[in-house]
Amino acid sequence: MCGIVGYIGDRKIDEVLLEGLRRLEYRGYDSCGLALNGGNNGIYRKRALGRIDNLASNLSKEKLFSAQSGIAHTRWATHGEPSEDNSHPHCDCSCELVVVHNGIIENYSVLKEELEKKGHKFSSQTDTEVIAHLIEEKIKEISRGFAVKHALPEPLFFEAFRRAVNLLTGSFAVSALWIKAPGLVISARMHSPLVVGCADNENFLASDVSAFLKYTKKVYFVDDGEIVALKKNSVDFYDFKGKKKNKEISVINWDLSMAEKGGYRHFMLKEIHEQPLSAQNTLAGRLLPFEENRILEEIELDKKFLLEMKEIQIIACGTAFHAGLSAKYVFEKLGIKTSADLASEFENRAALLDKKTLVIAVSQSGETADTLHAVKAAKKNGNKVLAVTNTLGSSLTREADHTFYTHCGPEIGVASTKAFLGQLTAFYMLAVNFAYVKNLINFEKAQEFCKELLSLPDLIEKALSLENKIEKLTEAFSQKEHYLFIGRDVNYPIALEGALKIKEISYVHAEGYAAGEMKHGPIAIIENGMPVLALALSSQYLDLIKGNMEEAKARGAEIIAVVDEESKKTVKAKHYLEVPKINELFSGALASIPLQLFAYYIALQRKCDIDKPRNLAKSVTVR
Ligand code: G6P
Repeated sequence: MCGIVGYIGDRKIDEVLLEGLRRLEYRGYDSCGLALNGGNNGIYRKRALGRIDNLASNLSKEKLFSAQSGIAHTRWATHGEPSEDNSHPHCDCSCELVVVHNGIIENYSVLKEELEKKGHKFSSQTDTEVIAHLIEEKIKEISRGFAVKHALPEPLFFEAFRRAVNLLTGSFAVSALWIKAPGLVISARMHSPLVVGCADNENFLASDVSAFLKYTKKVYFVDDGEIVALKKNSVDFYDFKGKKKNKEISVINWDLSMAEKGGYRHFMLKEIHEQPLSAQNTLAGRLLPFEENRILEEIELDKKFLLEMKEIQIIACGTAFHAGLSAKYVFEKLGIKTSADLASEFENRAALLDKKTLVIAVSQSGETADTLHAVKAAKKNGNKVLAVTNTLGSSLTREADHTFYTHCGPEIGVASTKAFLGQLTAFYMLAVNFAYVKNLINFEKAQEFCKELLSLPDLIEKALSLENKIEKLTEAFSQKEHYLFIGRDVNYPIALEGALKIKEISYVHAEGYAAGEMKHGPIAIIENGMPVLALALSSQYLDLIKGNMEEAKARGAEIIAVVDEESKKTVKAKHYLEVPKINELFSGALASIPLQLFAYYIALQRKCDIDKPRNLAKSVTVR
């Protein structure tokens, strides 16, 4: 949700910033902008409505002066409509100080009123602009009172920035430039992601590493309550009181090709095809040979806690919630009582959790504000939290007590695919492992499950061979405005996910239902020719779902059935999408592949902007 980039060094600053923005565009794409600090040459600021290309083409028409540092932003509007005036960077009254910001300043209206009384003139409707004026005010205040101590521009800028961020409430990753200190980029973080990249004679900052992965893999993850002073040859961290801090550098093992399209038309299609490999990465080294302590040691979870654990509570949003909901069925089929809640609806339930309940928070980005808020509520109640995430060093990993990485590599397409599969796979491993540790399954059974799980990458590869068939099939359906997805048990959440995918990228109406619920209302909306995608894989519920399909067919639905070799023998449908057979516990992973492809090709036929669907952002850091 909004992406910020900063650079200080000898490269062409506008180019580094534009490239960084392109890589962060998945975070928001209503508008964008950049600012360059040329010191005596002045501050250059350019903003554009819409995509990064608009900004780039505006820049190419202008002669840019040489600058020492720069910051840039791609926006997903929260306060103020998408417009050039509301685009970042925002500046102070004289446009000598500029800021970019990701997050929400909750007390901005109070601050704005005070600043207006002091004569500050605002030119946007955003919460962010208040930060620029606040720093400007603090510079004036300090210059008046402490002229000698803070005479030098850099310490003055730092101190003004520090005082300003101390007055902000809400969430922010904010970076600022001041005309009088061109060799310094100052940033701070509170509840919004910020990473610093370090290289020789140059330093970078961004909302996520993909923005500077091309230049360096050495990073510092900025923590909440930290200020970073970025110079060409140094990176210094401070707390909000101004006390210097020591930080450890981390090395990222993602490489740039993972964050590029590699010949695919869209990131989403590339990521769908990456799933055999990403599932392999999720599984790697965790199951073979099956040892009860292997996963527990990795997540640093005490066996005693697990033995006493009475229940699991899963919290997540969007696609991650669907993975969590499917996992609930898997855990329960193995004998572990589990609930799954939307993180945004969870807060009041936290206080009711038994202390022996393990909370599992699932999030691709590890930055989703609703999920982080729910985690805090659970921790306040005294519960242990296990994070299942794809993102090293993300806020979630720092809030949680334990972390299980999905290791899917960067996911850029806004519609999540490989991350969803990684979450399911991670849950399958946790479920088998927990069930074994709790003596709910024996060693032979655990090994049998592990063997099945290890075959997942190959089976996903086979399921992907449905692509041509699905592409053709979607030609006949692309003009439909309503779709139903039905499933039962582990595949009910997969039906929800199938409907979400098509809504997200095709903007058509789609609903996912527990197949048994159809008769309690939704069946009324079925009319002649309505596509119903039914997840009819071999399972204890196959006969029931076959009945539900018949009921839909009798009312005119055109059934597309996702089947396996065995269920196909008895399922009656107009179209079949056959995926390989696997134990029904894990069948959601395979059933989701044709639904992802179906959504992709419908969106392609409808000429939608698949990687950047309207109104959405990949990482939602507001509540
Ligand atoms: C946004 C994205 C969804 C994603 C959800 C949760 O709404 O558009 O695709 O599933 O956030 O994201 P997370 O990073 O927490 O998995």
